[in-house]
Amino acid sequence: MTDLTHLPQRHALVETCLAMNASGINQGASGNLSVRVEGGFLITPTSLPYDEMTPADVVEMGFDGTYLGSRRPSSEWRFHRDILKARPDVEVVLHAHPTFATALAVHGRGIPSFHYMVALAGGDSIRCAPYATFGTQELSDNAVAALEGRMACLLANHGMIVLGKTTKAALALAVEVEALARQYLYAHLLGEPVILPPEEIERVADKMRRMKYGQSPDGNAAPEDTARPRNV
Ligand code: 13P
Repeated sequence: MTDLTHLPQRHALVETCLAMNASGINQGASGNLSVRVEGGFLITPTSLPYDEMTPADVVEMGFDGTYLGSRRPSSEWRFHRDILKARPDVEVVLHAHPTFATALAVHGRGIPSFHYMVALAGGDSIRCAPYATFGTQELSDNAVAALEGRMACLLANHGMIVLGKTTKAALALAVEVEALARQYLYAHLLGEPVILPPEEIERVADKMRRMKYGQSPDGNAAPEDTARPRNV
């Protein structure tokens, strides 16, 4: 075990997969996760329940589609590879089939800016990529396009993809996107919800950037947006 490559990243991947299940955003044989490493990425093996997965089961892949290890990589390795290739700004790709996001996705619906927190995913909507069979290049192409300028998208009749700079950030955003999907669906009980205009989402996004909203509990935020500590 100790001669495994990228051991800390393998552990982080296993821990995050267990946390995906514990948070309720993932279940059974659904879902997969990848983390960028030098020259390629680590990815969950196909069809192995997360509570049975060890760091040695994690598969190392190159961007050429070759892999190392005793397990086969996730059937969704194409979109993990293509997203990591297309998006040098992200290190982690998380895929799951959470109930509320998937309920919207089976209608081919994304999440508009009905709530300001949609801005956390990088724009004024969370798009839904058109359907294509799991594991195909077509699904990968659709996902890469739906993620342009965004950190999350839904996949029609399938689930969600969330990106992150860290496994922790990707998991937190996945939980947030699932909460937004739940809120959006519940909001429809009273009719079509109010949609915030793009300029308000731009204002929110700018404020989130300056405050490092959702990222930094301990400081380093733009001073004009924070309360001042009393002893300063
Ligand atoms: P894998 O077990 O092959 O990762 O497949 C799970 C899945 O969610 C396919 O979309």
